Amino acid sequence: MPITLTWTGHSTWLIDTSAGRIVVDPFFDDCPTASMKAADVECRAILITHAHFDHIADAAAIAKQNRAQVVCNFEISQWLGKQGVGNVQPCNHGGRVAIPGGTSKMEIAFHSSGLPDGSYGGNPAGFLLDIDGVRLYVAGDTSLFSDMERIGRGGLDAAILPIGDVFTMGPEDAVEATRLLAPEVVLPCHYGTWPPIEQDPQAWAEMIRQGTSAEPRVLAVGESTSIG
Ligand code: NI
Ligand code: MN
Repeated sequence: MPITLTWTGHSTWLIDTSAGRIVVDPFFDDCPTASMKAADVECRAILITHAHFDHIADAAAIAKQNRAQVVCNFEISQWLGKQGVGNVQPCNHGGRVAIPGGTSKMEIAFHSSGLPDGSYGGNPAGFLLDIDGVRLYVAGDTSLFSDMERIGRGGLDAAILPIGDVFTMGPEDAVEATRLLAPEVVLPCHYGTWPPIEQDPQAWAEMIRQGTSAEPRVLAVGESTSIG
C-alpha cells in the first residue's frame, strides 16, 4: 500500500502511513522556508536523525502536543526526557524498532550531532524504514559513504538525500549515493533554506536521469507525492 511523503522544507518530511503520520526531523517555526507551523502538526511518531537545531528544534513541542512516539539516539532521548517528553524510544546504529505502520532501523551517517545547548548529542544517523510494505531510506545529514551500497541491497522504493553541500553531501555526491543505493525514486532535501546551501534541484535531477536508473522527484515546499 503506498505511503505519502510531504516535504515541508529543509530536512523535514511528513510520512503518511495506514497507521498515521510520522514526522522526520521537525524544524518548522524557525525554518525560513517551512510550509507550516509546529502547532499545526498532527502526528503519531517523530524520527530524529541527529541533534542539530535544524532537525530537532520543534521536536519536544510536537511530541508533547501529540503524545507522539519519538525515535532517536540515546543522548537525544535523555535531552527530550528533561523537557518532559515521555514516549521516547532510544536506539542506536543497527537498531530496529517498531513505528506506526512498520519498522525503523537506525543506520550510520557521517556528520556531527551537538545538541542546541552545547551538550553531547550522540551519533548522527539515517533511517531505513519499512512501512506499509514500502522501503524508504532517509539519509539525514551525511557525506557520501560506500555502505550506501549495503543499505540499498534489499531494494529501496525511495531514498531521501541531502543535496545542499557545505554541511552535507552536495549534488554530485548525491548522484553517486543514488548509484550505490539504487532506489526507484530519489528525493532531494537540505537545500535552499539559507544562501550557503542554495542549489539548482532541476540541474541535479538531470544528473540523476543521466547517471542513474532512479527517478528524481523534486518536490516544491509543501508538496506531496505517493511512493510504493
Ligand atoms: Ni546537521
Ligand atoms: Mn542539517
